[in-house]
Amino acid sequence: MKTIGCFVILLALFAACSAPVDETERKINDLLSRMTTEEKIGQLFQVSLDNTVDERALQAIREGKMGSVINVVNPAVANTLQKAAVEESRMGIPIIFGRDVIHGFKTLAPIPLGQAASFDPQLIHDCARMSAVEARSVGIHWTFAPMLDIARDARWGRIAEGFGEDPYLTARLGVASIQGFQADGQLADSHALAACAKHFAGYGAAEGGRDYNTSNIPPLLWRNVYLTPFEHAVSAGVATVMVSFNDNDGIPSSSNKELVKTILRDDWHFDGLVVSDWTSMDEMIAHGVAKDLKDVALLSIDAGLDMEMVSPAYLLHLAELVKEGKVPETAIDNAVRNILRIKFRMGLFDRPYTDTSVPPAFYTEESLQLARKAAVESAILLKNDGDLLPLSETQKIAVIGPMADAPHDQLGTWCFDGDKTHTVTPVGALKGEYRHINYIYEPALAYSRDKNTARFDNARRAAAAADVAVVFVGEEAILSGEAHSLSNLNLIGVQSDLLKAVKSAGKPVVLVVMAGRPLTIERDLPCADAVLYNFHPGTMGGPAILDLLFGRANPSGKLPVTVVREAGQIPLYYNHNNTGRPAPDKVTTLDEIPLEAGQTSLGNTSFYLDSGRDPLFPFGYGLSYSSFEYSNLTLPGQMPADGAITIKATITNSSRTDGTEVAQLYVRDMVASVARPVKELKGFQRVWLKAGETKEIAFELTASDLAFFGRDLVRKIEPGEFTVWVGGDSNAQLKGVFSIPK
Ligand code: BGC
Repeated sequence: MKTIGCFVILLALFAACSAPVDETERKINDLLSRMTTEEKIGQLFQVSLDNTVDERALQAIREGKMGSVINVVNPAVANTLQKAAVEESRMGIPIIFGRDVIHGFKTLAPIPLGQAASFDPQLIHDCARMSAVEARSVGIHWTFAPMLDIARDARWGRIAEGFGEDPYLTARLGVASIQGFQADGQLADSHALAACAKHFAGYGAAEGGRDYNTSNIPPLLWRNVYLTPFEHAVSAGVATVMVSFNDNDGIPSSSNKELVKTILRDDWHFDGLVVSDWTSMDEMIAHGVAKDLKDVALLSIDAGLDMEMVSPAYLLHLAELVKEGKVPETAIDNAVRNILRIKFRMGLFDRPYTDTSVPPAFYTEESLQLARKAAVESAILLKNDGDLLPLSETQKIAVIGPMADAPHDQLGTWCFDGDKTHTVTPVGALKGEYRHINYIYEPALAYSRDKNTARFDNARRAAAAADVAVVFVGEEAILSGEAHSLSNLNLIGVQSDLLKAVKSAGKPVVLVVMAGRPLTIERDLPCADAVLYNFHPGTMGGPAILDLLFGRANPSGKLPVTVVREAGQIPLYYNHNNTGRPAPDKVTTLDEIPLEAGQTSLGNTSFYLDSGRDPLFPFGYGLSYSSFEYSNLTLPGQMPADGAITIKATITNSSRTDGTEVAQLYVRDMVASVARPVKELKGFQRVWLKAGETKEIAFELTASDLAFFGRDLVRKIEPGEFTVWVGGDSNAQLKGVFSIPK
């Protein structure tokens, strides 16, 4: 045994010595050894430029004072700037060009929250790939996506930009997105974008859903929920991480050393680039943790931020701080190393320029088909009374509402570069591919906030003259996204009144929502026989929605967020802890409370008197034109503490329509050293079933999937009993138990 042990050690030593000293690190060290402090600091500066060549910018680049540029999308301009960096600056270090390419560059897929509803990692991967190919063709190297913030508050406008409320779903889709952007680990591919896991961390927990606000996430929640997707992103090789604007418990992320140095670098071994958010560093003055920009520079370099997005604290003060002995030069070297590493990994030293001889290919047939597929998979059927949907193509349709033909708004937030003239709206599709449909179009409102009811009579008449009315409502793009929080989540303006007016015509009504967030539509449900919910569906939203309405496609989207009944229920999410007094399934409603009822007569459990215990629609929910039945849950009774089990169930498509079901696996750790969520998503898969078909599905659950951070902030698996559920949403009923023995 001893000899074998020695041999193995010798072999390992030999391998270590003969392994090529990392060539990239060698090149980085060589560059660093030749750079002045000012040139190093220049690498840490990201500047926002427009698409013109600015002589001052060129000069700064020649002097080595600009490591990165954001917002240039003109390849000729990018090449001119790059030439100044590569051929006219002393060190010849290429610029890395960044841009927010969030759900597409030109061709826009649904907003990320919509993509999340597909529960389809491959789709998310492909959409990111498409975005990367388009964006890279104009000289962009780096996107600030995916956003991995857990969002449990629909008032927060940026809920649109992430994958919803669940850390497992966000982690899986985030990894898929990173792999898509980064060409499956081929960062040097000329069609790859460096991805950026943002916003590190806790930004989605902004108080009251007000953007940029303080979060107060305690240590266990921090690690078990909010940091989880980032850890997965790092393991998947994300090139960059962006810190967030918010302060968590008083510490702005731009100065959070524990977050960036201890957790991200030391614990997770991240060796990529950490960038600030847009002026998030200098905003520490407003936060009241820095007195001036010099203070800002000191705090952020000490916390481990490598690059400063647009504010000039590093540029103006780092050199001085080094001279004063307050910042060691090695801190700057480390930041430069992280930046150069990404530039090398992207192959920018070898191929700094964008080939302008090949015209960029935007809106290709392939991209449009993908955007359409994504919009189809992202739509969620919330209601379908009497199987009103799918409609027959021979029915006469009244097409009503401000979102039926809203080419700009349908694209959603973050579409800096998308061109609305390429958007196909539902009305656009009715004039094109679906022109055989007999329809009357009456927008009734010019846009979602429009309060002019003058055309409501026309809308009612249109509905009366048709077999069915389809009412397109929702939110203009500007009502969600960054800095677009809302306190009231009802359909904005008079859209609910429009729906009522249409309903009064007495015809069946389909409500089609296009919005940036889950809206509180409970009051609208009585006026809608069917509801198809779309988070802003992007360039091809129109044909995708018609495919679904007419049954050429079958809805399969599931809610990546809980839909609340009232904004006052927020936060309400499926994976909450139990209270000591969980409410029963049936709680007393306001109307049922007797007059002068006794103080304790309602049972003293946790619910709202006016909106109950439950949301309007639970996480994971979504209907289909097919119906799926789950049965035969089988699983072993025990899981070894270092092993895995296979959980099997049977799904039957008991309808006459082929369809896809997103089967979901939930788990609860029944007794642990700290209170654990009532259930947590631990697996999902899209299962295609022909009409009448039965399939067995299997989920692999490993013990490490059950690990969590306890009081000591160490992640571990605690033996004991676990409950599992398999089903089509977070209220899944098929239930079993297993245990991990001591
Ligand atoms: C946002 C980031 C974005 C950056 C650059 C900021 O305001 O918070 O998510 O990447 O701007 O546009």
